[in-house]
Amino acid sequence: MCGIVGAAASFPMRDFLLKSLSKLQYRGYDSAGVAYFGEDGSIKTKRTVGSVEMLEGMLPPFSSRLAIGHTRWATNGLPSLKNAHPQTSLHGLVTLVHNGIIENEQTLRTFLEKHGYSFRSSTDTELIADFIEAALSSGKSPEEALSSLFRFLQGSFALAILIASSPGKLYFAKQSSPLVLGRGECGHLVASDPAALVGRADSFYDLEDGYYGYVSEDEAKLYVDGKEVPPSFEERNLGKYEIDLRGYPHFMIKEIEEEPEALMGLKDTIQAIPEDIVRLVREASSICLIGCGSSYHAALLSARAARRLGKRANAIPGSEFSIDPPPFEEGALFFLLSQSGETVDILDVLRLLPKGRTIALTNASHSRLARESAHHLFLDVGAEVAVAATKTFLGEVVLLNGLFLRAAGKEGTEGIDEASRSLRDVIARKHEVRSAASAIARTGHLYFIGRAEGNEAAMECALKVKEVACFRCESFPSGELKHGPIALIEKGTPLVAFSVGKGEAMVRLNAREAEARGASVLFLGSRKEDDFPVDPLPGVLEALPLVCYGQLLSYFLALELGKPCDRPRNLAKSVTVR
Ligand code: F6R
Repeated sequence: MCGIVGAAASFPMRDFLLKSLSKLQYRGYDSAGVAYFGEDGSIKTKRTVGSVEMLEGMLPPFSSRLAIGHTRWATNGLPSLKNAHPQTSLHGLVTLVHNGIIENEQTLRTFLEKHGYSFRSSTDTELIADFIEAALSSGKSPEEALSSLFRFLQGSFALAILIASSPGKLYFAKQSSPLVLGRGECGHLVASDPAALVGRADSFYDLEDGYYGYVSEDEAKLYVDGKEVPPSFEERNLGKYEIDLRGYPHFMIKEIEEEPEALMGLKDTIQAIPEDIVRLVREASSICLIGCGSSYHAALLSARAARRLGKRANAIPGSEFSIDPPPFEEGALFFLLSQSGETVDILDVLRLLPKGRTIALTNASHSRLARESAHHLFLDVGAEVAVAATKTFLGEVVLLNGLFLRAAGKEGTEGIDEASRSLRDVIARKHEVRSAASAIARTGHLYFIGRAEGNEAAMECALKVKEVACFRCESFPSGELKHGPIALIEKGTPLVAFSVGKGEAMVRLNAREAEARGASVLFLGSRKEDDFPVDPLPGVLEALPLVCYGQLLSYFLALELGKPCDRPRNLAKSVTVR
């Protein structure tokens, strides 16, 4: 996944590009680059391996009113200067930035070789630039050249394109990767995410697949299949989605500290869920919840919540579901959980499910998943910029728990006030978590154990520690320790035991067994004498303060170990590859 931005506008372009690209770095940060028209009318390109901050140091002032930029998460070709975007066609007519993957790359290479092209990078992006150039050289107009992309290319592409012969126009095309147009007082803009345009655009238009066209300062022209379609820009207040650290050192800690308030906001969201969705849940013969990574863990907890209310419910990771779909029972209802709404493993599942029986849950109301599911629940917990899912994970659990409670004839908001207070309490004791992190950092490994909702909390915490702190960490249902993993325990092995809810007594017992073999156990539980006491909460909400603790622990471990907590190695915020 990568971040794209571009503008045809009268504001200072250099500052705009750098600011917008840094907001888009959650989508990738292997390399960055920009292209603009120089004073001599030629297209200038500046690229670097590394972050937008590095690009800033090498980007001279320029006066162009038309420019594009890119921040990359490498999928095709190593992160290197020659593979960084923008990519320019062989004869320099076309320079573009790309988000997506071309699946028939080899066919495209062979086609271009026959037309005399040789290649300069190992990206599929360069091939798109060459393909457009070849079409232009054969006499096609830019619009015709873009239209032919949709006939020839297979895969996904969101493109922002400069064409040397059209210096007043910024071209674009969209297939399966997100791209939004923005309009503001000073001109027109394009981006992968409208949040990158906050402050410069006040109305937006989400492009559909198959759309291409151009923007200039004064107009936006849009086509599909050779026919012009009028864009209908709509005003959107993206204040809550503004990407701003507000004085925090990192987005991750800011987003963790926003959790108590985000939970309170969900009370209104739960009450506003339309009755027809509540009825669908009430009448469903069974519920299947599908997610990836943290969203899968939220699905596991939510399935447990539904089962405790008497529903048959299970959870499956998206990539497992699509490779070997289970039989669909008539009357089953499918929840697709994805904070980004862009995860390809979830979009793949959507295509397999019976139409009309899907409910997407996202924090991106205009995402592909939100638009293509039969129904959509919008978390609306504000921007989550750090790569690690924190407040969106909690939000998914709370919203679905509330919906299932409503379907069971309850209010839906039971326990949220208490959960929010409990999170505030955990956050207020973050210095204790920090000390635990500095002791654990010296050991090189960590285990979490729990049972029932405590086990799912343990799974989520272990994922956070792995991804954010790049630290070896596993979780086990505590009852499984004695069936094998206990062999890993030696003197001083750190073990965090979540002894809450139904598993309270058994987890304690299992943790003591590990302690007897040398483990250094840190207890989180409802007893006053626990190392880190947490308040008891109803149902699966019990998992929330435990997960908050694990999120803080992973954050402080990352700081302790000098890891980039907001942008962990090899990861990006939405995963648009299989
Ligand atoms: C974990 C994390 C990932 C995502 C996963 C699914 O902190 O961020 O595991 O949870 O890639 O992403 P979404 O929810 O956007 O589908």
